[in-house]
Amino acid sequence: MQFDVLTLFPEMFEPIKQSIIGRAEKKNLINLNLVNIRDFSNNKHKKVDDTPYGGGAGMVMQADVVYDAYKSLNTKDAKVIYLTPQGKVLNQKKVEELSKEKHLILLCGHYEGIDQRVIDKIVDEEISIGDYVLTGGEIPAMVLIDTVSRYVEGVLSKGSTSEESFSQGLLEYPQYTRPEIFEDEKVPEILLTGHHEKISKWRREQSLKNTYLKRPELLKNVELSKEEKEYIKKLNNDAKC
Ligand code: ADE
Repeated sequence: MQFDVLTLFPEMFEPIKQSIIGRAEKKNLINLNLVNIRDFSNNKHKKVDDTPYGGGAGMVMQADVVYDAYKSLNTKDAKVIYLTPQGKVLNQKKVEELSKEKHLILLCGHYEGIDQRVIDKIVDEEISIGDYVLTGGEIPAMVLIDTVSRYVEGVLSKGSTSEESFSQGLLEYPQYTRPEIFEDEKVPEILLTGHHEKISKWRREQSLKNTYLKRPELLKNVELSKEEKEYIKKLNNDAKC
């Protein structure tokens, strides 16, 4: 999968070249191309922004500079995403959807934002990573690259994304590893039985319980069996006692 990032701060992307994403790049499963928008300034001082028409605080990134940076890329079949707090808030469903694309161009704003005319001209979709404001789109772009890359075949080991939080609309069940006893706390007995069917059932219940306790609003989008509905009802009753 190809990621082109249009940014004024390519150095900010160093952290994402580590660990799993770094390895995925080395294996050519993903390619991360950082484009410095400043390289496309025609100004002798390499200026990329100017004061807003109409007045107000801060500086606005100029449409022509951003457009020239965009035009330097192969844009055929690419989806252009602008990271902005005005976008739709990213969730796992959107991540999975984006992972089916072959080529994403991520536009990062900084300062007060980008001249609206170039946004209207090149952007397909606006995405936010949450209802708060960051200093720029670079950290949101890294969040997006990280989470989308996890779905690219070969990046994670098989099955890793199918049982994690949100994958079935639920939070994940708790995980345990050695030692079997930690500070007098034993691993749940069921996990030591080797009985896969019972373990699956227990994990599903734990997922339901976790979701009920921590993010109950997620439950309304999950299809539950009759038995599971009963289990939620029981949790509800227990909570009332
Ligand atoms: N730029 C600044 N804040 C942002 C946010 N919350 N999401 C995406 N891009 C941003």
